[in-house]
Amino acid sequence: MPSNELCPENCRGYRAAIITVSDSVYRREREDASGKVISEILKTSGFQEKNYLVLPDEQTLLENEMKKICDENLADIILTTGGTGFSQRDRTPEATIAIAERLVPGIPEAMRLHSMSITKRAMLSRSAAAIRGKTLIVNLPGSPKAAKENLQSIIEEIKHGLDILTGKENECGT
Ligand code: MTE
Repeated sequence: MPSNELCPENCRGYRAAIITVSDSVYRREREDASGKVISEILKTSGFQEKNYLVLPDEQTLLENEMKKICDENLADIILTTGGTGFSQRDRTPEATIAIAERLVPGIPEAMRLHSMSITKRAMLSRSAAAIRGKTLIVNLPGSPKAAKENLQSIIEEIKHGLDILTGKENECGT
């Protein structure tokens, strides 16, 4: 599983942080299967996982942790899992939008478009994506299956966005 060690800006690959947002995982009533799935996909896709957190569904807590990672430039991307649905405590998109400097609507649009061909319930994910500083934040749904399907549908294209965001590339070749 991921380490809590933080990576300096100049380490190899894209630096990723995973934040699992779930009351039951936080209370240790359930294993973090989604965090594990995300971690495995990152490993095989050229990402270095440098920060892993489990938080309860508390908007302010989540905002503060994401702000810290962005403002101290500890990761190029934050992937959250959970809290995108309709239950009263699902506030992950609201936390993301609250700290956003720029919204990236195309990423959740693409995830939902792809996911709708798998399950029409994909329309129920309220996932958002945003940029703060040089960090991209993407919300994934909470179940391991949904997190995997959503992440796999965007992971390759996201790299180009990260290259531009972090200044590794300054033009779109295509
Ligand atoms: N997207 C994919 N690809 N596969 C899924 O099984 N489940 C949906 C949706 N997106 C699903 C999906 C369901 S049932 C819900 S309620 C929402 O994601 C929100 O999930 P969350 O509340 O766990 O974040």
